[in-house]
Amino acid sequence: MESLLQQINDHKTAITAFTANNAEDVEQFRIKWLGTKGLVKAIMGEMRNVPNDQKKAFGQILNEFKLFAEARFEALQAQFEGANTADLGHGSQDQSLPGDPISVGSRHPLTLVRNEMVAIFKRLGFSVAEGPEIEDDWHNFGAMNLPEDHPARDMQDTFYIKKPDNGNGPTWLLRTHTSSVQARVMETQKPPIRVICPGRVYRNETISARAHCFFHQVEGLYIDENVSFADLKQTLYFFVQEMFGKDVKVRFRPSYFPFTEPSAEMDISCLICQGKGCNICKHTGWVEILGSGMVHPKVLENFGIDSNKYTGFAFGMGVERITQLKYQVNDLRLYSQNDVRFLKQFTGVV
Ligand code: PHE
Repeated sequence: MESLLQQINDHKTAITAFTANNAEDVEQFRIKWLGTKGLVKAIMGEMRNVPNDQKKAFGQILNEFKLFAEARFEALQAQFEGANTADLGHGSQDQSLPGDPISVGSRHPLTLVRNEMVAIFKRLGFSVAEGPEIEDDWHNFGAMNLPEDHPARDMQDTFYIKKPDNGNGPTWLLRTHTSSVQARVMETQKPPIRVICPGRVYRNETISARAHCFFHQVEGLYIDENVSFADLKQTLYFFVQEMFGKDVKVRFRPSYFPFTEPSAEMDISCLICQGKGCNICKHTGWVEILGSGMVHPKVLENFGIDSNKYTGFAFGMGVERITQLKYQVNDLRLYSQNDVRFLKQFTGVV
């Protein structure tokens, strides 16, 4: 055991004699002595060869040696600690600088307005229905009384995805309105039906301040016995008052949609110029906000709903347009450019 003691003494001498010029040297020291393959570990392993009656004494000596090496390491380390801060302005980090603030995101204005629209209709007993953005021809067009060659299909420039294989199977497309969700609701539910269908829709339009190839809608459907045009008007009137306040004026104009008869578009008095005339209302004082009408009996029959017993109304509006009026957003492209200067204006709005 003499040689083991000798070895420990030699090690101690070497450790004491070691000097470091920089942090890298300290690291070398650590690896050589305290690393997993280091000399301290190796000498601790010698314990196995120590006779049992001497184990206790040697255990203490070895432990002391280990503490000795660790203490030396800490002392060396301390020499170079603070080197970073002492070295300010020489490419090292200044630990005293304040951190970069992490900015908190906010809800997108379209989400805010969609949520508000949904909340208003929920107060009237509507529930939310959702459906796929990739649709088949039947749910988007056919079921809504727009057969294959119907000229009104041109009203909605459609992105077609896939024509049927050898004339079999559906034509796939990106839904042009969330009326496709109304179709899916009528397919699976029996009247009374009272749903709103919020969602993204797509149309092949050239992108400009006034048009985009995708936008968002909230459509609504109400089917029950004795539902009349008066119910339609009152529902939409309530919506407008809740959304824009009591002073907003409303007017209905006759219109045409293949899935409703009669059909009407609804305008509200321009909120930007208070009806005096501006760019947004094209100097008319009125802005169109939605299409609506009584559900066409053919649409009801397409889903096996008895059109002698049940009547219904439907409506559809663009979330972008409502947001534009509420927050005076004058360019549709702002909604999808992800410019934080635009988005952060809505921080704190809930
Ligand atoms: N689906 C129509 C559109 O996208 C809107 C609408 C819905 C009109 C329901 C009438 C009734 O333009």
